[in-house]
Amino acid sequence: MHELEIKVPASRPGSYKVAVGSGFLANLWPQIKSAFGHRRPFVIADANVVAAGHLDTLLGGRPVPHFVIDPPGEVSKNITTAVAIVEAMEKAYLGRDTVVVALGGGTVGDVAGFAAAIFKRGVPIVQIPTTTLAQADSAIGGKTGVDSSVSKNAFGAFWHPAAVYVDVATVRTLDERQYRSGLTESVKHALIADAEYFEFLERKMDVILDRQGEVLQTLAQHNCAIKGRVVEADPDERNQRQMLNYGHTIGHAVESASNYRLLHGEAVAIGIVAAGRIEIEMGLSEPGRLERVTTLLSRLGVPVTLPPDLDAEKLIDLIRHDKKAIDRWPRFVLLGQLGRVHCPDGQYALEVDRRIVEKVTQSMVDDR
Ligand code: GLY
Repeated sequence: MHELEIKVPASRPGSYKVAVGSGFLANLWPQIKSAFGHRRPFVIADANVVAAGHLDTLLGGRPVPHFVIDPPGEVSKNITTAVAIVEAMEKAYLGRDTVVVALGGGTVGDVAGFAAAIFKRGVPIVQIPTTTLAQADSAIGGKTGVDSSVSKNAFGAFWHPAAVYVDVATVRTLDERQYRSGLTESVKHALIADAEYFEFLERKMDVILDRQGEVLQTLAQHNCAIKGRVVEADPDERNQRQMLNYGHTIGHAVESASNYRLLHGEAVAIGIVAAGRIEIEMGLSEPGRLERVTTLLSRLGVPVTLPPDLDAEKLIDLIRHDKKAIDRWPRFVLLGQLGRVHCPDGQYALEVDRRIVEKVTQSMVDDR
């Protein structure tokens, strides 16, 4: 075999800044212009962000080309929307000197990131997340993509943002259910990485639910620091980054089995409880841990049991076909203790005896 070495870094070296604050959206545009002044901006938002007034606040009447995803949400997270965005950029005579600015929640960030990754072979993206979910999770880490008619994120790319601006004041306009659901990812971060952060969430849950600025900034700083550390250690999700999928193996299956009637964070909350039951079965849980987790999730107002009408057979089938499965049976991220992932031999996602998974899933079905 003949080998030739091409001396180009396999992944681009570099870093990006995540700025966290409250109420700076109205003054952000000049900052973006000064950081990316040599580039021409194209803003992507959705109808919810427009209705909440965030697009007007960001642009302040400036005539910047933009695309509004409508209808908002997962229903528009597809290749048709990505194509429409790319074509809108072409029609605005934009080229490789574009900077895409994504203003919105998880769908906007994922679709805009994907469009940025493929437009003219890739242009930088600035993420401005406006939901609890996107601020805690999806705006950082470079996972971008759109769904196919068969599965979620079937088209995708790792495309790390050039900058992330988290204005926590933007989540004040979110509807209550979305607001609470997105906070499940904060609970997840605390569970996998920081027991003191978990205690903070226990102490401050009422204030967090009141959406008070100072506590929201502390929350965002913790989330960004935890997610940033994990992504830095394993940007391509070869091992350690898988810990961010805590609660997601069963959570994704629940989300899909509910036909997306459950929001992502709601399904993940159920997945976290299921992971807690697996930990008990495997002798990994200290007494009272699952009760503590369940109590916090209940105070958050997300479900901790399966919906009564959820199709149990479909659920089991979906767990078997999880996209991260090996040999058609998924691997799980499990806690060794509160704030720390169990990783024997340095492996963060583990095979679990299928009888345990079936027993726990059945117990979740029986308890609803
Ligand atoms: N949301 C999980 C990750 O970014 O890896």
